[in-house]
Amino acid sequence: MLGARLLILIAPVAMAQSLDFEMYKSRVEPIFLKKRPGHARCVACHVDAASAFKLQPLPDDKHWSEDQSRKNFEVVSRLVKPGDPDASRLLIHPLAHDGGGDIFHAGGRQFATKDDPEWKTIAAWVSAAK
Ligand code: HEC
Repeated sequence: MLGARLLILIAPVAMAQSLDFEMYKSRVEPIFLKKRPGHARCVACHVDAASAFKLQPLPDDKHWSEDQSRKNFEVVSRLVKPGDPDASRLLIHPLAHDGGGDIFHAGGRQFATKDDPEWKTIAAWVSAAK
């Protein structure tokens, strides 16, 4: 009886560890490299910007190595709450305030609303970690 209760308490924490690296690398990371109209690329600022979102320097302006992607994945994973996009800083900070995001991001309103396809892609990665 007590054992079953403990399991219920512990299970969500254990399952929340499962952000998927392959999905991150193939679908999420390319968004950091893409130029959005009217905005600089995330990577243009987030190699140097004084924030917790710190990407690896790009070796050739186009691709990160596998090892660098792993390091990026570790950093980015700390900016999301697995299973909960709306509580994930990576998603809420660059989202326009009137679209449900933070009041100010020095890198602009990169996503106007939660219907932005790339916002949804990142959200799908975060949601999959349940
Ligand atoms: C023009 C430069 C610039 C661009 C482009 C930019 N950012 Fe930022 N970003 C900043 C700066 C500077 C900060 C720290 C100040 C602040 O919070 O606004 C920041 C903060 C953040 C934070 C908060 C990190 C923390 O410390 O908690 C997140 C998350 C973030 N940016 C995500 C993004 C994403 C995702 C993109 C691309 C879609 C992006 N940014 C593009 C400059 C930029």
